[in-house]
Amino acid sequence: ELRSRHQLHGDLGDDDEPWTTGVRETGASVTAMILVAAGSGSRLAAGVPKALVEVGGRSLLQHCLDTASTVERITQIVVVVPAAHLREVSAALAGQAVDVAAGGDTRDDSVRAGLALITGAEQILVHDAARPFVPAEVFERVIDALTDSEAVIPAVPVVDTIKRVRDGVVIDTPVRDELVAVQTPQGFRAATLRAAHDGHDPQVTDDAMRVERAGIAVRVVAGSPQGFKITTPFD
Ligand code: C5P
Repeated sequence: ELRSRHQLHGDLGDDDEPWTTGVRETGASVTAMILVAAGSGSRLAAGVPKALVEVGGRSLLQHCLDTASTVERITQIVVVVPAAHLREVSAALAGQAVDVAAGGDTRDDSVRAGLALITGAEQILVHDAARPFVPAEVFERVIDALTDSEAVIPAVPVVDTIKRVRDGVVIDTPVRDELVAVQTPQGFRAATLRAAHDGHDPQVTDDAMRVERAGIAVRVVAGSPQGFKITTPFD
């Protein structure tokens, strides 16, 4: 996979030994990315899996891949797609240097399916295909911060006041200054992510949550207004 990514970047020479290429010469760690695209998109109701919905002539999935291809430190990409659409999406991705895995019932399950195909990475990014407009600078920022952190997430301040509600009644109003909306890609040392992904937990909605529960500090860097998640037809 490393070699095929090098061909994609097209600037790392034709040396047979991947570890002697530009990725290592810069002193950078090997970073893989899991692109989770196995959601059904039921809230979008487009009739096809959300990741295959097109915006501006390209699927959400392809937007993500095109941005990631400009981030040279990403050396392997695993795309996790709905099991029922494995053939179709694999065909659509033919010729691109990615591995394809069949997703699971929850996002968390899909991340684990992707993890199983990652080989040799020191750092792993997990990115939602539903966030097709995240700029490359956010990927770079997350990877940069992994130099001295085990886990890094991009986030933006929330503009609304957020309340906890149970049975139609407010039970708490957290102080807004301390709240952020979390985006992807989320970055982790590979061993940290693998260890945190041990076992099924239906409450988990992002990977950082697993790492937090393991007592590991999760660093927050600036996300982007363009990092919003496409969920409904309005988006
Ligand atoms: O459902 P949610 O909006 O949290 O989905 C976020 C991302 O997780 C999307 O890119 C979606 O394709 C992916 N996902 C997945 N497998 C699932 C559910 C969601 O890969 N079973």
